[in-house]
Amino acid sequence: AAAEKGGFDWFMLKEIAEQPRAIADTLLGRTDGQGKLVLDEVRLTDQDLRDVDKIFVVACGTAYHAGLIAKYAIEHWTRIPVEVEVASEFRYRDPVLDRSTLVVVISQSGETMDTLMALRHAKDQKARVLAICNANGSTIPRESDAVLYTHAGPEVAVASTKGFLTQLVACYLVGLFLAQIRGIKYEDEVAAVVAELHRLPEAVAQVLEQMEPVRELGRSMAEADRMLFLGRHVSFPVALEGALKLKELAYIHAEGFAAGELKHGPIAVVDEGTPVVVVVPPRARDLLHGKVVSNIQEVRARGARTIVIAEEGDEDVVPYADHVIRVPRTPTLLAPVVTTVPLQVLACEIADSRGFDVDQPRNLAKSVTVE
Ligand code: G6P
Repeated sequence: AAAEKGGFDWFMLKEIAEQPRAIADTLLGRTDGQGKLVLDEVRLTDQDLRDVDKIFVVACGTAYHAGLIAKYAIEHWTRIPVEVEVASEFRYRDPVLDRSTLVVVISQSGETMDTLMALRHAKDQKARVLAICNANGSTIPRESDAVLYTHAGPEVAVASTKGFLTQLVACYLVGLFLAQIRGIKYEDEVAAVVAELHRLPEAVAQVLEQMEPVRELGRSMAEADRMLFLGRHVSFPVALEGALKLKELAYIHAEGFAAGELKHGPIAVVDEGTPVVVVVPPRARDLLHGKVVSNIQEVRARGARTIVIAEEGDEDVVPYADHVIRVPRTPTLLAPVVTTVPLQVLACEIADSRGFDVDQPRNLAKSVTVE
């Protein structure tokens, strides 16, 4: 088993380390020389895709968080309204669907029962279904109208890492592809984002090189009994994902919040020593950035231990941060691909130092094949 883990203590650590390669493989062969996307596998006609007037993204767990991030990007690039929903809710509330609705189902395993039932419901309502999936030939892509595979390779650890980052990349590809087909963004604009996508493997590799202090920080947090995660815009779902990972692996109660909601509740639970992780938007988004920096200051004033994820060169956060974790400068919509990585490492390390089985957390399964 040690050999299978490639020298790492856990499959999860190995899979975290594989992320630059997984992202590169997911991008491979999907653009022509001019930065134009060629998603031949998406066997929906251009006309079908032009007719789409509403998108649902439906998934469970970590894949659902990928969907939440996708909404920001797809709406921004295409101007098509996007709704994101957990699969177990979608089917039971009579969502409004018809032939011009595109339902994007996201599933690493392709076997999650709730997601499968949601996809069947969507097809019954005549919606078109596009699957984003990692496991080749699994049930969900087989039953969908079209599939865009992520090329993460097999994921063994129960908690999804490379599966998640490649789902994000696939979501970006879908958004840009729709924008390209519908001619909403000029071709060179799509090409510019595609070029940024190709920089992500290197950016993630850079984050991974700086993980030693994060592991140390994790070891110092083994005794924490709860934790808060805050983020805004695309970093809000990143905060949700950070909290989910911590719950799943370290069995520490954690919640993710939209940082703007701080004063509407979450700040009440902050007291002396409460660890609060804050994912800060790029400085280029100055309004948003300033507001989140104020949030760090506010929780710090109530005694929180602040762990701040901020881009390189962002000095504004320094006065209020007990720990700063640096990530390379990345365009806002793509930033979750880099800011999620330290949260994966943190959860893994905290769980390990608490003596838990990181790869096989209690009560959880890699793929939930019952409703
Ligand atoms: C389970 C796993 C999660 C995963 C979720 C969705 O709950 O423990 O890590 O995110 O299922 O799985 P899927 O295979 O559909 O992406």
